[in-house]
Amino acid sequence: MEFQAKWIRTSEETGGVCPVFRKGWKTERKVERATLYLTALGVYEAHLNGKRVGKYVLAPGWTAYDKRLQYQEYDITDLLREENELTVTLGKGWFRSPMPGWEDAPDKLQRMDRPGGILGEVHIVYMDGSEEVIGTDQSWTWGESGIRFSEIYDGEFCDDTFVTKEWNTVKEFAWSKEILIPQEGEEIREQEVVTAKSVFRTPAGEMVVDFGQEITGYVEFTVDAHAGDRIHILHGEVLDAERNFYNANYRSAKAEITYICSEGTQTWHPALTFFGFRYLLLDEFPGEATPEQFRGIAVYSDIRRTGEIQTSDPALNQLISNIFWGQRDNFLDVPTDCPQRDERMGWTGDAQVFSPTAMYLEDTYAFYAKYLYDMAKEQSVLGGKVPYVVPSCGVEDAACVWGDAACIIPWNLYLFYGDKSILEDQFVSMKSWVDYITKVDGDNHGWRYIFHFGDWLALDNPVQGAEQVMGATDEEFIANLYYAISAGIVAKAAGVLGYREEQEKYQKLSEEQFAVVQEEYYSATGRCCIKTQTALLLTLKYHLSKNEELTKRQLLKLFEQSNHKLKTGFVGTPLLNNVLTDNGMNDLAYELLLNEEFPGWLYEVKLGATTVWERWNSLLTDGTISGISMNSMNHYAYGSIQEWMFRHVAGINTMESHPGARTVQFAPTLNWDLRYAEAKYDSASGMYSIRWELSDKEHVTITMDVPFDCTAEAVLPMVAKSEKEAVAEVLGSEENGRYLLEPGHYEVSYQLSGWKEKTAVCVE
Ligand code: BGC
Repeated sequence: MEFQAKWIRTSEETGGVCPVFRKGWKTERKVERATLYLTALGVYEAHLNGKRVGKYVLAPGWTAYDKRLQYQEYDITDLLREENELTVTLGKGWFRSPMPGWEDAPDKLQRMDRPGGILGEVHIVYMDGSEEVIGTDQSWTWGESGIRFSEIYDGEFCDDTFVTKEWNTVKEFAWSKEILIPQEGEEIREQEVVTAKSVFRTPAGEMVVDFGQEITGYVEFTVDAHAGDRIHILHGEVLDAERNFYNANYRSAKAEITYICSEGTQTWHPALTFFGFRYLLLDEFPGEATPEQFRGIAVYSDIRRTGEIQTSDPALNQLISNIFWGQRDNFLDVPTDCPQRDERMGWTGDAQVFSPTAMYLEDTYAFYAKYLYDMAKEQSVLGGKVPYVVPSCGVEDAACVWGDAACIIPWNLYLFYGDKSILEDQFVSMKSWVDYITKVDGDNHGWRYIFHFGDWLALDNPVQGAEQVMGATDEEFIANLYYAISAGIVAKAAGVLGYREEQEKYQKLSEEQFAVVQEEYYSATGRCCIKTQTALLLTLKYHLSKNEELTKRQLLKLFEQSNHKLKTGFVGTPLLNNVLTDNGMNDLAYELLLNEEFPGWLYEVKLGATTVWERWNSLLTDGTISGISMNSMNHYAYGSIQEWMFRHVAGINTMESHPGARTVQFAPTLNWDLRYAEAKYDSASGMYSIRWELSDKEHVTITMDVPFDCTAEAVLPMVAKSEKEAVAEVLGSEENGRYLLEPGHYEVSYQLSGWKEKTAVCVE
């Protein structure tokens, strides 16, 4: 559809106050259908005749605004009366808040000063067949709303006593309509209500609310107050070591709400902003608060859940819960790094490493596709370069692993959902990223020499310190390797799409670059010269060494030296357990997962985490916050471990040879520290499920379900030789240790052989 309406805005600057736009009209004939199309430069909330229109929170969502802007469509038939009043309140949102990326961007001021505005049309179809369109134009008026301030990072200030008295004529203004697109991803909505667990006084005497769970969204509170009473609340995600309120790690984000009460009992929540929080500091609040007065409203993209895992270990189950919360909290129209500090950006690296886990847990196709379309648009004016964050918000730098999201995410989408249209849609983006690297690389490895984040936040940098962010794995190695990897993905995508010429070209490029890496970083006999866990994991994953036995020995030696503790960062961690399992070191993978000491996933759980931390040492053992400058408690990147839990703990392993999961591999691995594990995965082809349970150290029972029109191959762990026949009787014939399963329900119990006392090397 094409908008006939005009962009409108306030006739004067409102100094931060959120304006409300208003239009009244009469509808005298009988209405068959009425639809509102609406968008904004900013975020909006619309009401028709006093009723909220739709359920979208923070509409119109977040895109690369100068290139793409979503509009929403609402069925408003039931809200229409004879006398109608439509109001639209406008906040700064992502469009006009001071996004961190703007800091050095030359057009920063211009961006923040650009006008907010709205564009909308009401389309009415009458019973008599006639039609009417009421669009935004000069006939609308605007006034100040009770929201005196609203912005993404600093929060919201609402004066409930405020009454709009002055209504002024709006100004029409010119802004592109070519950038308009219909809503692409799922709507952002209020999803869950988390009740407050307690209200308590800290040792410093502060009144603090604890929701027991970190969420993204806002608080809704009910108070009995006098007109003019003031409420001032700050948000935080942890208490400090003394159990006092803390939020210095939000950096410059004020994350506060101020509310001026009206008379009597009232319920309020912010409308045009959001926070990441578990705790509230009631800095000013009428009377002594009680938990019943507070509801945490979790707000995130309305995406269907597809995956679940449960185990016999409560701590592990808490980790699983933390990872899923991390996903929901950071899936607010854009996959973000974190939801609380002065960042909350679409960091490409974080999105990339977490994407397989996200794809098991939720039906993320539309969500990521929207993100990738924005990425492609940003690239289109940057010569193929993928900015660190998408939407770019003015950031123009690129780095390996982060920018490689342009190739890795669409490829993962294809593998998980089996729909090659995403490769078609993104092929130019994928290819232009690799071409961009080729250009920077020149004939002297230029790509290696720009700044790269590398194995970000790894623990192996010899220069330690709370604010250390760089790992020890040579960034030049990682950069060159990911160049080869991305070129290889472009070649595979070209193969799927039947683009033979490109397939050959990028395959050749990929092979050349792998060879360059091998020549530079490996001895003639295959010894990797970078002695870090991450480098050796990459070596095994991409078969870079001639001598994989040697690489495994090198890796095990490193783990012995680190007392079987991981040291990996953003590059190594997502690979860690998958590579260990694929290379016969499954016991070590389990040991790393189940380790409760620093550093490890359960260390965080033991310290009370309800989402996944940014750093392995975000909190020290005594609860001290390790550093301020780069320390969030809700960064999903290390939640990428759940991919391995799906593949090899519970054991629903999607296969590259079968995109879209028409066939999966059931590949559970057992560990005596767990008595059972179970998973469900509602794939693009149907619902797979599995459960294994150890009744004692000798016996396991495994149940598996294969959906209609699908097949599975089961690779079962530790089947004693004497049991093979009995197992085959239930599961059908075996080929090279694989049982081929048709659709149906299977249950098999057998005797185990091959437990090995805990060593780093597993028998399988
Ligand atoms: C973000 C990360 C991101 C990183 C880049 C941080 O500020 O929060 O998660 O990937 O910068 O290295």
